[in-house]
Amino acid sequence: MAKTATDRPPETASDWTIPQDWVSYTHQEHAVWDRLYARQTELLQDRACAAFRQGVEHLRLSDKGIPNFAELSERLSKRTGWRVVAVPGLVPDEVFFEHLANRRFVAGRFIRKPEQLDYLQEPDVFHDLFGHVPLLSDPVFADYMQAYGEGGLKALRLNALEKLARLYWYTVEFGLIAEPEGLRLYGAGILSSFGESRFALEDSSPNRLRFNLMRVMRTRYRIDDYQQGYFVIDDFDELLRQTRDADFTPLYRELEKLPDLAPDAVIPSDQIVSRGSQQHAYRGKFQ
Ligand code: PHE
Ligand code: CO
Repeated sequence: MAKTATDRPPETASDWTIPQDWVSYTHQEHAVWDRLYARQTELLQDRACAAFRQGVEHLRLSDKGIPNFAELSERLSKRTGWRVVAVPGLVPDEVFFEHLANRRFVAGRFIRKPEQLDYLQEPDVFHDLFGHVPLLSDPVFADYMQAYGEGGLKALRLNALEKLARLYWYTVEFGLIAEPEGLRLYGAGILSSFGESRFALEDSSPNRLRFNLMRVMRTRYRIDDYQQGYFVIDDFDELLRQTRDADFTPLYRELEKLPDLAPDAVIPSDQIVSRGSQQHAYRGKFQ
């Protein structure tokens, strides 16, 4: 997320979408997708949440090559009404939220180079599709994402985007979920990352704390390395009820009075799932 407002490139439509131009992908580009897909699927077998694995199956993401957005959207919209549209990369916040509020997920169409398999600064089509789209076939998560888009438009009006963006970060991008078999991944930033999909579940460095809406909206995050803390939900119903069905206006007002928390903070009111050692050598600074 956190797309910066720039001038709309001339080749984009008024809603900033562009054709995916699927026929232009080269063999090499499809091969990069296939390598990423194979590697990640293996890693995620018993790490991804059940809804993600079902989504991969329903959407037939195991078909070879970079998915065609139009075909993918046909399958996805039959389940939850969501579609996937291509954008040049950066879109203004308002455009991003407007798409979400209308059940359109905006995705980059470019794919990383073979030498960037492990790390990439900007989200590419592998992160956007493999990471985000499977969960959009889950009816409850699908509703959450739409409500988030509506909430984003409201946060823009209330000047509260910095707080709301943290909710996206710690759920949609880096969320963990407690399933009967144990902790599982549902955040797209983890699911599409070779290193972090193990780190987030198994490393002793990060804190893992029970999800709490106000706590999350107070917490800064790292954009340049693995997270120092993750928040754990019980199920998507809990997430949906606490967010869609709450009026954030008074919460934003209260947040203005509360100090922000560091990414590695643990406070007395936290419900600790596992307390981290923070021994991982983090690079850079946090935002
Ligand atoms: N209900 C929130 C509000 O009143 C909007 C929201 C919905 C935010 C879902 C996040 C997720 O602003
Ligand atoms: Co993302």
